[in-house]
Amino acid sequence: MLDQNEFLIASLKQVSNDIAHDMRRPLARMRQNLERAILTHAPSDPMYEQVECAIGELDAALEIFSSLLKLAQLESGAWKDEMESLDPARLLGSVLEPYRSVMEDHGQHLLGEIMPTCPAVIGHPVLLRQAFSNLIENAIRHTPGQTTITASIKSSGNSIHIEIADNGPGIPAEAMQRVFDRFVRLDTSRTHEGNGLGLSMVKAIVRLHAGTIALYDNSPGLRCVIQLPQELHPTATIWPGADFPRRPDRPGAQSAGNVDAANF
Ligand SMILES: Nc1ncnc2c1ncn2[C@@H]1O[C@H](COP(=O)(O)OP(=O)(O)OP(=O)(O)O)[C@@H](O)[C@H]1O
Ligand SMILES: [Mg+2]
Repeated sequence: MLDQNEFLIASLKQVSNDIAHDMRRPLARMRQNLERAILTHAPSDPMYEQVECAIGELDAALEIFSSLLKLAQLESGAWKDEMESLDPARLLGSVLEPYRSVMEDHGQHLLGEIMPTCPAVIGHPVLLRQAFSNLIENAIRHTPGQTTITASIKSSGNSIHIEIADNGPGIPAEAMQRVFDRFVRLDTSRTHEGNGLGLSMVKAIVRLHAGTIALYDNSPGLRCVIQLPQELHPTATIWPGADFPRRPDRPGAQSAGNVDAANF
């Protein structure tokens, strides 16, 4: 029974991947035609606004198809050979910084607990950046003003724990697993923007890194914990005074010590 269900889910995923793949080209052509059409109307013409609106809707559809394709590629192991040794604390710090003003605008507070020196992980910087951003954006988008959002990273055993938590409304226990499925948005979030693909993307990225992601009740709020395996046999040079190896060729590799709790 389980096998049959797994087979059905895999077939459904395949169909949605095929649709995403095949629909992108005609939609992109339609967009080009609309771009040409808009040039024939003055901005004061009501038709201009309608064409502009149609372009916006198409962009939203194209974004969904791109996300579905990216998910399919992640699940098939793409980008694995583009991974490198990186400092996850430094990466998290750089992802958080631009969100600070967005949170302030929403009346939300950011607290950070980023260890000054962090063991490296083997990862894809762009994908990990996206995973961290998705969780931070969720904490901003799905919670009200006055919410405190906490970002922390620590090392335990042979793994690195990255945690994004908030004290907002949280997710009911029965939905904690379901929210990782594609297009799932809880009723409380229907009024917010979003496609219900962010957490599916985080899960696929974390899996590609041989890690795990878990959601917990933060009483109140949501606590998301990503666990990534630490790089076990770093090939990098050991910098004098550093308590873990850093790659000398990474820009700013030595300055991770500046990314600490005081900065957040
Ligand atoms: N921090 C949070 N607090 C409360 N609910 C959350 C939180 N994070 C996620 N959720 C719930 O989980 C659902 C799925 O999240 P997910 O990130 O997959 O989609 P989304 O944020 O709605 O859209 P997007 O595709 O833009 O990320 C959200 O719609 C929301 O209902
Ligand atoms: Mg999201």
